[in-house]
Amino acid sequence: MKKLSTNQIRDMWIDFFKKKEHHFLEPVSLVPVNDPSLLWINSGVATLKPYFDGRLTPPSPRLTNSQKSIRTNDIENVGVTARHQTMFEMLGNFSIGDYFKKEAITMAWELLTSEKWFGIDKNLLYITVYEEDIEAYDIWTKEIKIEKDHIFKGSRDTNFWDVGQGPCGPNTEIFFDRGVEWDKNNLGTKLLKDDIENDRYIEIWNIVFSQYNNDGNNNYTDLPRKNIDTGAGLERLASIFQNTPTNFETDIFLPTIKELEKLSDNKFKYIYNDYQNIDENQTKINTAFKVIADHIRAVVFAISDGVFPSNKDRGYIIRRLIRRSSVYGRKLEIKGSFLHKLVDKVIDSMSYFYPYIIEKKAIVSEVILNEEEKFLNTLNKGYELLESIIKDNKVVSAENALLLFESYGFPIELTTEIANENNVNVDIDKYNELLENVKDLSRKARKANKAWNKQSPILTSLKVESEFVGYEKEECEVKIIYMFVDDKEIKEANNQTVYVIFDKTPFYAEKGGQAADNGFIIDENNNYFKVIDVQQGPNKQNIHTIIFTDKVKVNQTFKAIIDKDKRFLTMKNHSGTHILQAAIQEVLGKEALQNGSYNDENGFRIDISYKRPPSKDEVMKIHKVVEREIKNDLKREIIHCSLKEALDKYNALALFTEKYDEVVRVIKFGSFSCELCGGTHVNSTKELEDLLIINVESKGSGLYRYTALTSHSTINNYLSDLYNSIKDEVDSMFAKAKEFEQKIDCNQIYKLVDKFKTLKIKKDNIDDLKDILLEIKELFKNLQKKYRDISVEDKIKNYKSISPNPKDGFNEIKLEINDLDDFETKVLIDELQNINDNLIIHIINNAKQTYYVSVSKKLNPNFSAIDIFKSVKSHNLKGGGNSVLAQGKIIN
Ligand code: ALA
Repeated sequence: MKKLSTNQIRDMWIDFFKKKEHHFLEPVSLVPVNDPSLLWINSGVATLKPYFDGRLTPPSPRLTNSQKSIRTNDIENVGVTARHQTMFEMLGNFSIGDYFKKEAITMAWELLTSEKWFGIDKNLLYITVYEEDIEAYDIWTKEIKIEKDHIFKGSRDTNFWDVGQGPCGPNTEIFFDRGVEWDKNNLGTKLLKDDIENDRYIEIWNIVFSQYNNDGNNNYTDLPRKNIDTGAGLERLASIFQNTPTNFETDIFLPTIKELEKLSDNKFKYIYNDYQNIDENQTKINTAFKVIADHIRAVVFAISDGVFPSNKDRGYIIRRLIRRSSVYGRKLEIKGSFLHKLVDKVIDSMSYFYPYIIEKKAIVSEVILNEEEKFLNTLNKGYELLESIIKDNKVVSAENALLLFESYGFPIELTTEIANENNVNVDIDKYNELLENVKDLSRKARKANKAWNKQSPILTSLKVESEFVGYEKEECEVKIIYMFVDDKEIKEANNQTVYVIFDKTPFYAEKGGQAADNGFIIDENNNYFKVIDVQQGPNKQNIHTIIFTDKVKVNQTFKAIIDKDKRFLTMKNHSGTHILQAAIQEVLGKEALQNGSYNDENGFRIDISYKRPPSKDEVMKIHKVVEREIKNDLKREIIHCSLKEALDKYNALALFTEKYDEVVRVIKFGSFSCELCGGTHVNSTKELEDLLIINVESKGSGLYRYTALTSHSTINNYLSDLYNSIKDEVDSMFAKAKEFEQKIDCNQIYKLVDKFKTLKIKKDNIDDLKDILLEIKELFKNLQKKYRDISVEDKIKNYKSISPNPKDGFNEIKLEINDLDDFETKVLIDELQNINDNLIIHIINNAKQTYYVSVSKKLNPNFSAIDIFKSVKSHNLKGGGNSVLAQGKIIN
């Protein structure tokens, strides 16, 4: 068996598939883009959905990658089993409508067994196929000549890849036999046949024959274009080529584990010789090492991709991983925060393929350190809570175990261990049930989103070419070359809305965060047809949605005119997006990463991942930087060059999550801003006129959405609308205060209103205005309450002097009133109860047609308000209450 490092295995994989004409795709961010159905990128294919469902044409029909992925459904198993990990790397090769079963299987076999490549002994490889997939079985047995005792048929459960909606199909899996020493009961291939969890046969490659579409309701139809999706776990292959008992002794994790030994002052060692005979205590120690080594790697990568610890979604998972690792650090008796000290080791072992993490070191370490410190403070409180639960109970309830987990970060293993040491059990079954419910809720929330778009046969096969001339022209002559509607090509449209492709077009399609152009096309008889949307097709043709109010035909020519005002405003906002992005980085630092943006004629927004929201002071500084650069009137340059040149020479900002063509377009504003971008932009920063951030809101997981405007006129309109709405609120409070004036002193609020009137609305005093509005509101609320109390007191004054009638064992007041509302009636009841002893009150409120019964608490042993209310005979009542107060409507 060859001995290969992880980097060698990955290189060999990519090299092999490049030689087989596959296009290599760089790994993308762990954070899915435009895919709310996924929390994390969880496989190689998850990054290729638009290619698989036909929304985009891939750079080549044959693709290969090595993609970092995260799966978090089994965090509790990490460190306990040999191969569970949070983050892993998946090697893949993909065919988008190109080769299918035979080529996929043949290539896999060549890479695995050829001496030139991995050179694995064929006798050590085993295969499973889907029981109904005769074709795959025949390819394996007849063409590859796999022995019959090395191939097994599996069920739908084991050999069919289906994520509920979208492309799916049977798969074939390849297993590596680690030998009988990993098979204590010598069950041999029964383990494979019966799908028994085991450490002997390791699944190393899954090849999915993506040939059906699941409509989401388990109705399967043939896909117009069949695909191949494969996945091989890099860490598993490493464990095989480095002959290690688990994935954790490979060159990826061992350096981190060794560092941990040092951090524990070598009090604890990770022992893995004679792996199957390690005693219980050492097994627990080993688990601690493995958990930390796994989690810290995932955390370093997630933070590098802009995910910060928080209480939601991805941020919550990162928080959990940090907490869990920190707790396991206590098992190794490491004092204080230590996780940040492992960042170097992760970077050393991973930066060969992911060099960008080197630059992230400072921010990643800082975030981890802060989070761990914060956690260590709560951890002690958690210990105290657990101790008090153990002292008073025989069992730690599922709810308490969940509370410890959710609020104090106590992993269930730790709770159980401490409880057991004190002879107390934990209600694990119920805990798992509760946890499942919690998980289910978040799963459901995600499932509600569309998982995959359905392959549209017409879009997938659309090859017609259309040139975009909109960078230079706002109008031009165009000819219809293709039309379709309801997935069918049409040659003629008559009074209907259809999709249209022209030979060339000045209309910009929505992409890169920039909204589509709108506008008109005009025929030779001067009929205008409205273009209401433009989207890009899989081969980059712009597809226009047009409302035809007359008859049109393919090949007909028109004059196309874009809505120039919309375009110009959108351009300002798109350039504004670039300038604001650069200004945010200047003020907050390079780690403030853009994570998507959108701009149209009304304004724009950028999502920035950062550890916290910007302070008022920072927002002010960002505004100053933008103003400086508008004043500098930086000229816009457009450069076309290779991706490498853009990154190396121009230091252009590229989103890791986007895919770029061979030749990229770079938009530069002086040396201040430089981004890869296909959008339309103003000629120089002066054209923005001005820029105003109007809102920053948290989107969870350390993501902050900045909403902003450009142009004097847009900003002025916004400011005057804002001023008017604040003024309306102030005026109405002022008018009300005038009414209060006779009974209470309103001078304070008048002074504030005067102060408000001296303030003009300007870009830099929005906060002052908002602050003063808040102050006035607060004061007004107090005055309102005071005024109400005084008025109520006035109204109920006369009723309070009524003396009760003594009855047998209690005093009684019976009243009919006409002038009090519900609130005032209740105040009256309270006051009467305060003044009198042992009182029962009946009140009929004629104005409201309500009946009240109130009983003094002291009388409760003998009398109850609700019982009395129910026994009232004089009126037909409907209502409810308790022992001291009951009330309801008078029905007749
Ligand atoms: N997408 C397949 C998997 O994740 C290859 O196993």
